[in-house]
Amino acid sequence: MNVVVVGTGYVGLVAGPCFAKFGNKVTCVDIDKKKIDRLKKGEVPIYEPGLDDVIAQGIKENNLLFSTSLKNAMKDAAAVFIAVGTPSRKDGRADLQYVDAVAEEIGKNLIRHTVIVNKSTVPVGTGKRVTEIIKKNYKGKFDVVSNPEFLREGSAVKDFLEPDRIVVGVSSKRAKEVMLDLYEPIDAKKIVTNVESAEMIKYASNAFLATKISFINEIANICERVGADVEMVALGMGADSRIGPKFLKAGIGYGGSCFPKDVNALNQIAGTEGYDFKLLKSVIEVNNKQRLYFVDKIEETLGHLKGKTIAVMGVAFKANTDDLRESAAVDIIRMLTGLGAKVRAYDPIAIDNAKDQLGNGVKFFDDAYKAMEGADVLAITTEWPEFIELNFDKAKKILKEPYIFDGRNLLDPKKVKKSGLKYIGTGRR
Ligand code: UDX
Repeated sequence: MNVVVVGTGYVGLVAGPCFAKFGNKVTCVDIDKKKIDRLKKGEVPIYEPGLDDVIAQGIKENNLLFSTSLKNAMKDAAAVFIAVGTPSRKDGRADLQYVDAVAEEIGKNLIRHTVIVNKSTVPVGTGKRVTEIIKKNYKGKFDVVSNPEFLREGSAVKDFLEPDRIVVGVSSKRAKEVMLDLYEPIDAKKIVTNVESAEMIKYASNAFLATKISFINEIANICERVGADVEMVALGMGADSRIGPKFLKAGIGYGGSCFPKDVNALNQIAGTEGYDFKLLKSVIEVNNKQRLYFVDKIEETLGHLKGKTIAVMGVAFKANTDDLRESAAVDIIRMLTGLGAKVRAYDPIAIDNAKDQLGNGVKFFDDAYKAMEGADVLAITTEWPEFIELNFDKAKKILKEPYIFDGRNLLDPKKVKKSGLKYIGTGRR
């Protein structure tokens, strides 16, 4: 099948090459000429394990093309995916200007019955909105489909190729057939529904996962007070198949390009419809407070932060990515420096991005132990597996005060304590 994917962000740049891997002829389109030129050479602008191989294979087999011209790419397309960004506006609503612009261009360049697929995370009703925009410019037949993406950064290729489910929101039999044909190579549960339900499934899923995280963070905060261990509590809860063990990791809260944005957007959608989504508001509040709470713990332990130096391990919003968007670690670094502390930060791959974002106020290092030199205490803010293997005896010798604050409950407290360092986790005694 000839497929066009508009937008080469995380979603588009994973979906396009993966569709090419199934033998489809895919053209990835973006208005950013520099990015397209780099992609044509096989240079991947994001850090995503396995993605460069899929792209290289697609280019080699001539199944994967990159272009800045949607018009040319659309000529033979059976399906056109819209996978452009939907950033948060100031009021929390999704900014649809890029989706609208692409819809308009699609309308102007349609020449045959094509399936237009929304893969960007968009408010319920956007399918209709896209349909209206296209109709203004094209009088022939076309279908608009919602096909939300659930991939996670760091495991995006695997998530795309081996998803738990594929959700397709359609309004015609033809669109359903095209979509099921396209996803035929993937062995996963396929849920076909109407467009609005598919749009809602994406928001509801992300909001529910965010709720799980805020819930376990509140449980962690109570655990600290009553002498329970949230790790054991999560283990016990997660063993109930109705609850499940995933997304019950307590810490400094969720970040990233999706959860904060989508949870806020759903809250706004509810508000616009005159519905007060109380639970979701609390999820957001708990998440914001959790970062503050972590900083408070360091401040309380040290007495004050002015003039203190904190070695911060991790700036990415989670492990296996160089993405800093809505990173709790970045927020925490800002809070620490705002309270007069000096920060020496290390991250295995996100340092360059962090330098751009955090600027001169923070010192960055390409080695964890160098970051610890001259520091009073150590804070773990991203769940990078390599931090588990830190040499705590060495850390104990370097740090001025014997404390490790584990904002991700990543470390083994026993191992840390053996070195003489004091372990302060989240929701653990
Ligand atoms: C998320 C969704 O998982 C994915 O389905 C959707 O398509 C996009 O948003 P992603 O943003 O890549 O994916 O990250 P994810 O692994 O879900 O983690 C989100 C945030 O929650 C991270 O900051 C992570 O550190 C945090 N998290 C996750 C926790 O604090 N505890 C957990 O138990 C799980």
